[in-house]
Amino acid sequence: MFKKVPAALAAGLLTLVLTACGGGDAGSGGGSDRITLGFSQVGAESGWRTANTKSVQEAAKEAGIDLKFSDAQQKQENQIKAIRSFIQQKVDAIAFSPVVESGWDTVLKEVKDAGIPVILTDRAVDSADTSLYRTFIGSDFVIEGQKSGEWLVKEYEGESGPVNIVELQGTTGSAPANDRKKGFGEAIAADPKFKIIASQTGDFTRAKGKEVMEAFLKAHKDIDVLFAHNDDMGLGAIEAIEGAGLKPGTDIKIITIDAVRDGMQALADGKINFIAECSPLLGPQLMDLVKKAVKGEQIPQRVLTEETTFTPEQAKTALPDRKY
Ligand code: AHR
Repeated sequence: MFKKVPAALAAGLLTLVLTACGGGDAGSGGGSDRITLGFSQVGAESGWRTANTKSVQEAAKEAGIDLKFSDAQQKQENQIKAIRSFIQQKVDAIAFSPVVESGWDTVLKEVKDAGIPVILTDRAVDSADTSLYRTFIGSDFVIEGQKSGEWLVKEYEGESGPVNIVELQGTTGSAPANDRKKGFGEAIAADPKFKIIASQTGDFTRAKGKEVMEAFLKAHKDIDVLFAHNDDMGLGAIEAIEGAGLKPGTDIKIITIDAVRDGMQALADGKINFIAECSPLLGPQLMDLVKKAVKGEQIPQRVLTEETTFTPEQAKTALPDRKY
């Protein structure tokens, strides 16, 4: 476990360690000065999540941080258990991507009482007491929803309605589901021709996206647009649309969020029409923040991820270099 020591004493100890090891690398030697980070991941529900896990694991290795990784399988109770176990193991810092926004105050108070800094990654919590965590690194999901809605408004500019939209929401109660819905709704609100005729969760998975889209297609014969809160649900929905004998991207316009490789390929192929990017590559910045938080250094309360949007043409250009 990493312990804060006065600078002069630290310098003395470092000299001692280097002398004793004959000049070895004290920073990556596996001694007690290595930071241990407990990380509770949401699960493995999407291509985005897989890329995010890889980014965190690789960055920890690169930064010489010992990572205790726990997969919550999309269950809040598993995340709470993992966090309590990290406290017992006396880790130096805890990072987690909260599966849902609410219900974290009790466990976060326990972490605070144990003196362990917490970093939220990817998803926010709705705790009123922001002293329960040191920082939150991740995307602005409201903006992602807004960009998606703004594209739609432009696409149907000058056309008469109605434009019937179905929505595949992310995990119920999660920050990206709440915020993307909000941002999209705000962007299309000014024009009453846009109507969300059905909206249901697909839990951010391809299988659920397909299942719910099949139900939408049975219930509604007049769907113009699908807004899916992530690529995976959109890709599942494409299978359902093709299964119903329709052409995705043409008979039903499709907007998704993430821009993972499979989504980008479908966009390049014309099966998706627009993607708002959500970057999963949070690992390196997270490790920097962990190091600073453990040393007691000042860090910003919010670290925002930079993101763009993609049309089919832009996807074709970006695909060869896409890392995930
Ligand atoms: O929290 C980020 C979201 O979670 C991604 O958009 C989605 O694919 C993932 O499962």
